[in-house]
Amino acid sequence: MLTTAPRGTNDFLPGDVEKWQYIERIVREICEHYGYQEIRTPIFEHTELFLRGVGDTTDIVEKEMYTFVDRGERSLTLRPEGTASTVRSFIEHKLYANPQPTKLYYLGPMFRYDRPQAGRYRQFHQFGIELFGTNHPSSDAEVIGLAMDFYKRLGLTGLEVRLNSVGCPSCRQEHKVKLQQYLEEKLASLCKNCQGRFERNPLRILDCKSSTCQELTVGAPTITTCLCPSCIDHFAAVKKYLDILNITYKLDETLVRGLDYYTNTAFEIVYQGIGAQSAIGGGGRYNGLVEQVGGQAIPGIGFGLGLERLLMTLEHQGVKLPLANKLDTFIVALGSAADGLGFKLMQELRTSGIKADKDYLEKNFKGQLKQADRKGAQYCIIIGEDELARNAAIVKHMASGSQEEIKVDEITKYLLSQLNKG
Ligand code: HAM
Repeated sequence: MLTTAPRGTNDFLPGDVEKWQYIERIVREICEHYGYQEIRTPIFEHTELFLRGVGDTTDIVEKEMYTFVDRGERSLTLRPEGTASTVRSFIEHKLYANPQPTKLYYLGPMFRYDRPQAGRYRQFHQFGIELFGTNHPSSDAEVIGLAMDFYKRLGLTGLEVRLNSVGCPSCRQEHKVKLQQYLEEKLASLCKNCQGRFERNPLRILDCKSSTCQELTVGAPTITTCLCPSCIDHFAAVKKYLDILNITYKLDETLVRGLDYYTNTAFEIVYQGIGAQSAIGGGGRYNGLVEQVGGQAIPGIGFGLGLERLLMTLEHQGVKLPLANKLDTFIVALGSAADGLGFKLMQELRTSGIKADKDYLEKNFKGQLKQADRKGAQYCIIIGEDELARNAAIVKHMASGSQEEIKVDEITKYLLSQLNKG
């Protein structure tokens, strides 16, 4: 127990962490290219925020939140997603008072109490973006386009965009009535949760994970058949902008998403090669959310991309990320005087921006070279008794085996130019 991480959580160890760091670099790079700025919000929020924001009849709120009462008797919840927190912060700090739109991104852990399986964890990580202040259909296409560009920059192929429109509150009202009529006679067979959802939010029944409910809703009227003319127009324009970006998509009338705040555009990005949890990302428009959380009526749209599922997809497609974690140089010193000189030189190399390391276990010459090899050092700096006497060292290029003796004072300059770091 003491030496086992909690169920559904993961350690990311050296060797894997470099992949995360690379992905995070691409996130920052792409967000800069598209004009999104980073926002960092707390890991926990007032529970009320998610009840209101995500929706109190969603699976997330009904079954999956990590909620606790703190020592001050406040109910707090580990964030299950990033949109509600970003909306809260957007309102609290009056970001709407700046020239719009506001374009934000975040990276970080989210928490959902669900049955863990491959691709589904209790602590998982998302890269998300949220764009506030416009309902323009090109912004919907930009958000989906950014996600697809991100995956492309990482070298992924074969992903599918599933697209739907879930309409506005008036389309939803019409759909609610049709859905209730359709489900009325099946009500007794629905799961307990869905029976409770029938009156308040029957749309949620379409997203239930229970296989019985899934079977009972096959053929149910879809929201898409209830769209009002203005929502139809918006959806058509989004598709036109996606065509401009050459983004192919599959229309999916059954796509309703698991969170209550969506209006109009809803999408998921799916990769079939990683098993049952195939949604590697999802998002959509939420034109009522800012108001619902206590702000003005300001539209928004965004996505959340699961980073664990992204790593599984990279693995499944055999993508090798260009990780530059090799050591530049390893110091091989023989005897304590040489070790002292090597230690001083190592410090000079490191402060000059050269990745340098040495032996700390007093290994012999062969043992030190082995360590250099294991760490992938490009160069070895060898200081024996003779070199020490001449205040010099042998600098050996490991790949070619070529070597030369260089005065200790000149080694940093020499390596900076060899490594193109000058
Ligand atoms: P979501 O669909 O709930 O949307 O989550 C987004 C992505 O997070 C999923 O597609 C999946 O890749 C990943 N994910 C979700 N749950 C888990 C889990 N238990 N384990 C591993 N990965 C998981 C949202 O969270 C919305 N906030 C997205 C959004 C932003 N919509 C508008 N703006």
